[in-house]
Amino acid sequence: MNILLIGSGGREHALAWKLAQSPSLEKLYATPGNPGIAQHAELVELDITDHGEVILFCGDKDIDLVVVGPEAPLVDGLAESLRTAEIFVFGPDKAAAQLEGSKGFTKDLCARADIPTAGYVRATSAADALAALDDFSIPVVIKADGLAAGKGVIIAETRAEAEAAIADMFDGGFGEAGAEVVIEEFLTGEEASFFAITDGENVVPFGTAQDHKRVGDGDVGPNTGGMGAYSPAPVLTAELQQRVMDEIIKPTVAAMAADGMPYSGVLFAGLMLTESGPQLIEYNARFGDPECQVLMMRLEDDLAKLMMRTARGDLAQTSAPAFSAETALTVVMAAKGYPATPEKGGKIRNLARAEREGAKIFHAGTAEVEDALVASGGRVLNVTALGANATEAQARAYAAVDQIEFESGFCRRDIGWREVAREAGE
Ligand code: AMP
Ligand code: GLY
Repeated sequence: MNILLIGSGGREHALAWKLAQSPSLEKLYATPGNPGIAQHAELVELDITDHGEVILFCGDKDIDLVVVGPEAPLVDGLAESLRTAEIFVFGPDKAAAQLEGSKGFTKDLCARADIPTAGYVRATSAADALAALDDFSIPVVIKADGLAAGKGVIIAETRAEAEAAIADMFDGGFGEAGAEVVIEEFLTGEEASFFAITDGENVVPFGTAQDHKRVGDGDVGPNTGGMGAYSPAPVLTAELQQRVMDEIIKPTVAAMAADGMPYSGVLFAGLMLTESGPQLIEYNARFGDPECQVLMMRLEDDLAKLMMRTARGDLAQTSAPAFSAETALTVVMAAKGYPATPEKGGKIRNLARAEREGAKIFHAGTAEVEDALVASGGRVLNVTALGANATEAQARAYAAVDQIEFESGFCRRDIGWREVAREAGE
């Protein structure tokens, strides 16, 4: 089959790499892509906000399936436009993508379907939000309702901080995303991610991961899109995974279908493993970045076929995809200044030498300028390795990192620390 992949980050490079290994793939196109994706796909320029242009391209090139990487085109309704034009697509419709696009929507769904999640109140004005604060203890979590590029969540350690966050959101500090606010009870526990693939009705589990959101070693500093990740996350034991499927994922898929918004694609659940069990923190309507990179390293099935079955509503006969028992770990190399103002244009060398250390390097924010590879984004490279456990995967990933010349870049040196400490018996 012919596939069009949408996106330009490390997640999409990992998807392109895996799709390229699928026996059922004939030709892969990507837009806008990046130099890493270009190793596996023909890059094309399309304005993805112009759904008609994407549909025309699919007709011209006999595209059988469109795979949407990032959330923005999903929330913008691209998958829906393609489905309406009878083109198969991996990714949810606009209404279903509200699971990521509106935190309030997801909380209401959890309340209706009895899905374990933090207690909450939705507020559409600062006055309502301030009044609701009285019902919460401190710390309290204040969230902008809409998409805010991972920045719309404030954990307020004092009442004053909570009030300031509310004022900031209703003053437009988070743009349209903050026109509505969700106030949430603060949960404690370890965080982990769980993935599932669903065609709207049938669901199969798709692996676990943990990431590192803070920019600095020891989980300090500002939040980022993710500085590294590993899969599996052994804290999500087989028993907990079953609970997540039964108590969170399946009721969500059933409720979405019952509400006339069947959810098709990958469902990425951010979980808090509390003393009383897993609770949903948030949903994403796409693969995580960089969680996708470690999942793809371990996936042993034909990804193109699996995505096509999902898109066709044909998952009933599909058993859970097979993943290698090894651990995959990825280290994000970012441009200095990330996440605030990453330095652009820094030269990158020695990737081939680094890959000879046994790692796979996914391009996240690179560009080719006069035959040289340079940084063009905040997160630039994802240096990814497999190992018998997290300790071995970590050692291999950093051995590769140490071969890379990228003067204007940096990375965390402790990706996987929780798991490595557990493996050392600490
Ligand atoms: P979100 O964008 O909803 O995933 O939130 C970003 C991060 O904020 C999460 O990964 C958690 O670390 C934290 N967080 C969000 N909601 C809560 C909550 N109710 N209790 C504790 N931490 C939270
Ligand atoms: N790495 C977190 C995310 O993709 O949302």
